[in-house]
Amino acid sequence: MNKFYITTPIYYPNARPHVGNSYTTMVCDAIVRFKRQCGFDVAFLTGTDEHGEKLERAALAAGLSPQEFVAAKRPIFHNLWKALNISLTHFIYTDRPDHTTSVQRMLVRARDAGYVYKKKYEGRYCIHDERYVSDSTEPVNCDVCGRPAELISEENYFFKLSAFADRLLEHYEKHPEFVQPDFRRNEVVSFVRSGLRDISVSRRRIKWGIPWPGDPEQVFYVWYDALTSYLTGIGFAEGDNGSAEFRKYWPADVHMVGKDIIRFHAVYWPAFLMAAGLPLPKTIFAHGFLNFGGDKMSKSKGNVVYCEPIVEALGADALRYYLLRDIPFGQDSSFSYEGLIQRYNSDLANDLGNLANRTITMLNRYFGGEVPGPTTGCDEQKGADVGGSAEAERNVIVVQNSVLDRVPDSFRQYDFSRGLEGIWHFIGTVNQYLTERQPWVLAEDPTQRERLGVVLRTATQALRIVAVLVSPVLPKSAQKLWEQLGQHGSVDEVDIEKPDWEELPSGTRVGHPEPIFPRLDKEETLARLEELAEADRNRDKPKEALKSVQTEKTPEAVPAPESSISSPQSPAPSPVPATEPAKISIEDFAKVEMRTGEIKTAEPIPGAKKLLKLTVDIGTEVRQVCAGIAEYYEPEKLIGMKVVVVTNLQPRKLRGVESNGMIVAASIGETGQPVLVTFKEDVPNGARLK
Ligand code: MSP
Repeated sequence: MNKFYITTPIYYPNARPHVGNSYTTMVCDAIVRFKRQCGFDVAFLTGTDEHGEKLERAALAAGLSPQEFVAAKRPIFHNLWKALNISLTHFIYTDRPDHTTSVQRMLVRARDAGYVYKKKYEGRYCIHDERYVSDSTEPVNCDVCGRPAELISEENYFFKLSAFADRLLEHYEKHPEFVQPDFRRNEVVSFVRSGLRDISVSRRRIKWGIPWPGDPEQVFYVWYDALTSYLTGIGFAEGDNGSAEFRKYWPADVHMVGKDIIRFHAVYWPAFLMAAGLPLPKTIFAHGFLNFGGDKMSKSKGNVVYCEPIVEALGADALRYYLLRDIPFGQDSSFSYEGLIQRYNSDLANDLGNLANRTITMLNRYFGGEVPGPTTGCDEQKGADVGGSAEAERNVIVVQNSVLDRVPDSFRQYDFSRGLEGIWHFIGTVNQYLTERQPWVLAEDPTQRERLGVVLRTATQALRIVAVLVSPVLPKSAQKLWEQLGQHGSVDEVDIEKPDWEELPSGTRVGHPEPIFPRLDKEETLARLEELAEADRNRDKPKEALKSVQTEKTPEAVPAPESSISSPQSPAPSPVPATEPAKISIEDFAKVEMRTGEIKTAEPIPGAKKLLKLTVDIGTEVRQVCAGIAEYYEPEKLIGMKVVVVTNLQPRKLRGVESNGMIVAASIGETGQPVLVTFKEDVPNGARLK
């Protein structure tokens, strides 16, 4: 059996995990579940990073010893991972005694190989990010978090990072998969090419850390300690060379990390491992940041959203689906409650929920719950020309085959967004097929019974495939669907590498239809989320507020025309005749910031017949924009469309709804019919138009 070992970063337990950092764990869980479906023997590690000055100070502030403090925080992580259905196999915390053995063992090996020496260090250090900011004593702010870096002056042990530059560059060259995505590898390569300096790997003034072997006055630098947890967690401390489990799983297949900690993983970590004579992990994958209200979601910025209220209101699967579907993996993306509810209602409740519900209901109603099998002549695969329906079935089968082919490939590349898009295209095809075949009409005509059987069998077969393919992302809901489809065992045990796994077993008898994703009222759900978040805050007393992207800014209400697309704006009076538009300078033009955006949601605004309320992903955030296109565009058809947004306009209110930007459109004829500007080629969200 092939093995697969994946890790999340180990989290600092001084702060409670929010949606931003939990995202890493959810992504890893989807990968892990998919790998298991492909027959891999998986180890999945997460944990807590418990040493260092930041933790020491937080414990002091809480009136606890560091050890008591971190032990009290650990259960928060266990509980959250359980609530999010994270199927981890290993949890490491760095205050574990065997971790001390691991870290000291790594060091002794590196020291014996001549890569460690002692020297006086003076410089500026950021305690929040646990990183060196400058080797000068001049005051400076941390370039990551912006806080003032503290002065450190002490004699420390240094690791000869500089000795590894060539070997690292050679490794990146020979193993392009080592740092992913590619653009991150380029960043890492240029960092190493620009020259590596030795780094201090011990601390004198801190007590809360792993003791340095042979020097009781020093403890380990927290990153040396933390990275080694990937080894300890699977048994590196056991015996002289680690446990059998360690030998089985190491090297790791993937260390999944956020982009801010790539350097530690792609430069320091491989050098530490090389120095200790250990094999390197196969891939370091860096994902982007989840933003909220236009900025990185982070406790220090006060714009965090916690998972627990969302899990309570919509379920863990809804959150998992939203994040994995909406975030193009590797890139930054924005979180919004509106986007979450929209995805839930349109994709989960409407598309998948409806397909399951109507198919199972009709099977019960027309066939007593039994799926008519090929033995009755209803074999859609073998060209069921029953009543001339073969063409329609063939169309479903074509999409089905492409999904069976492509979705696992996307998942293999950790591109869940694309994989899910493919699955939902298939769901849409089958829904459309049912709408066209009208099984409820066929059911009224006894001569159409065979055709009715073909239609319902085709839909059931499709749903069974969907249940298996979505289960890495929607583990709970997929299992519910599986059971309603009358399938036995666990959906996540279906081995998709086995031949014919997608075949619907003959004699299948479905259960009773129960809504897996009951439709939610948007306003009520937003209010409920707000209520739950408030209760959550009171429980935990942090200051975070449930801010939605559009309510966060408080622009003045400006009476304005019913439009925020460019064409029908009333122009300011111009001294130049209309036939000869005034010339502007390039600097004037540069003042207008236009970016590409993708329409995420679109809905009418009650009482405003010309207006649609859109949310548009402009790369760094999701903006709410009102556009006067309601008479010409159906909201559903706009979803996913790439448009041009003027992003630096003052926000304003249109019919009481905030509009934060303007969609660019051509204005045609006397009516001024708007035609949205879009692109023929694929362009990333947020690209600037110049
Ligand atoms: N303890 C170190 C990791 C040591 S790994 C050997 C650490 N911990 S952390 O708790 O600060 O961050 C954990 C992870 O959460 C990092 O990968 C970080 O990039 C990620 N995120 C924190 N905020 C995030 C977002 N807003 N969005 C996405 N990921 C984010 O760093």
